[in-house]
Amino acid sequence: MRAYAIDEFGRPGSVRDLPTPVPTEGEVLLRVRAAGVNAFDGVVVNGYAKDFMEHRFPLIPGLDASGIIEAVGAGVKGHAPGDEVYGVSEKPFQGEGAFAEFLTTPADALARKPSSVDHAGAAALPVAALTALSAIDATDPREGQAVVVLGATGGVGSYVTQLAGNRGARVAAVTRGENAEYSALRP
Ligand SMILES: NC(=O)c1ccc[n+]([C@@H]2O[C@H](COP(=O)([O-])OP(=O)(O)OC[C@H]3O[C@@H](n4cnc5c(N)ncnc54)[C@H](OP(=O)(O)O)[C@@H]3O)[C@@H](O)[C@H]2O)c1
Repeated sequence: MRAYAIDEFGRPGSVRDLPTPVPTEGEVLLRVRAAGVNAFDGVVVNGYAKDFMEHRFPLIPGLDASGIIEAVGAGVKGHAPGDEVYGVSEKPFQGEGAFAEFLTTPADALARKPSSVDHAGAAALPVAALTALSAIDATDPREGQAVVVLGATGGVGSYVTQLAGNRGARVAAVTRGENAEYSALRP
């Protein structure tokens, strides 16, 4: 398969041919149609997480993906080849991420992609939107309450701003002036 990979921390990587991964028990093989770029990808490629996670080189970064199931490993239920899904590249190490034609990940790290969302849109959702949802669940903003979102233009803040706004909260989205128009957008 073709994939973007790095060979050392902090240095540019390249697109190259690498072996297509094989799904193990409980995993699916996803044909990636779109990969999201998460702030954590920068953490990984710069080696900032090297002391608390295993990293395997050549290292393919990328947490978030949307695509079509190509094959399923033993014991997988609820997903089948051809299904359009999105979710997280979830491994006990860094190095087999989403910036590739294919990835393997546990079946329960993926959900069926709504037909109303294209692959690029779906790939922008998983980790950042789940993080935002956790923040919303924890703070439980109500109709009319004031919510201040710092970093409102970021991956997480963009979703927090929309989720809190959808609940009827009065959202103050804090951002640099040049991003004021973006942070004022409502779904
Ligand atoms: N992304 C995830 O899935 C995820 C998951 C778990 C935890 N987190 C944590 O959540 C936080 C946000 O992550 P993210 O992915 O949303 O990052 P991001 O996309 O890089 O966004 C960062 C945001 O912070 C703002 N910002 C940066 N420096 C600032 C400063 N000095 N003062 C005020 N605002 C500043 C940026 O504003 P400008 O655009 O104006 O520069 C931007 O809105 C980070 O602490 C990250 O570790 C993220």
